[in-house]
Amino acid sequence: MSGQRNLPKYLWFYSICLMIIAVVGGCNQTEPPDPITEGQRIYTIYCLGCHSLDPAGPAALGPPLAGIGTRAANNSEGLSATEWLRREIINPDVVVAPGYTAGLMPRTYGTDFRPVQLEALIAYLASLE
Ligand code: HEC
Repeated sequence: MSGQRNLPKYLWFYSICLMIIAVVGGCNQTEPPDPITEGQRIYTIYCLGCHSLDPAGPAALGPPLAGIGTRAANNSEGLSATEWLRREIINPDVVVAPGYTAGLMPRTYGTDFRPVQLEALIAYLASLE
C-alpha cells in the first residue's frame, strides 16, 4: 500500500523536472538577432536622422541611402561592397558624396560600435538594393 501512495509523489517530482528542462531548453533556443534585423535597428537609431531611406526623401543633412547596397557593389574604387560600406561608415570623409560637405557625418563610428554591431550595420546596408 505504501508503495502505491508514493507513486504520485514521484510523478509530481518528474513533472517538475520536465518543466525545468522545458524552461531551460526554451531559454537556450533564444537565438541572437539576425544581423540584418540588428543592423536595421542600429540604423534607425543612429543614421536615419541624416539618411532617409526614401530615394526622394529629405537630403539636407546626408544623402538618402535607399539602394546603397547596389551603389556599394558598383563602387568605382575596386572595393567589395562590404569594404566600401565599412570605409564610408568608419572614415566618411575619405570620399565625400558629391554635393555634400565633409565633416558633418560623425567620424567616431569605428569605435562607437562593437565589431559585431558594425558588421550588422554593414549587412543591413548591403541588403538595401
Ligand atoms: C549628422 C548627420 C549624419 C549622420 C548621423 C550619419 N551620416 Fe552618413 N553621411 C552624412 C553626410 C553629410 C554624408 C555625405 C558626405 C560624406 O560622404 O562624408 C554622409 C555619407 C554617408 C555614406 C556615403 C553615401 C554615398 O552615397 O557616398 C554612407 C554609406 C553613410 N553616410 C552611412 C551612414 C551610416 C551607416 C550612419 C549611421 C551609423 C550615418 N551615415 C550617420 C551625414 C550623416
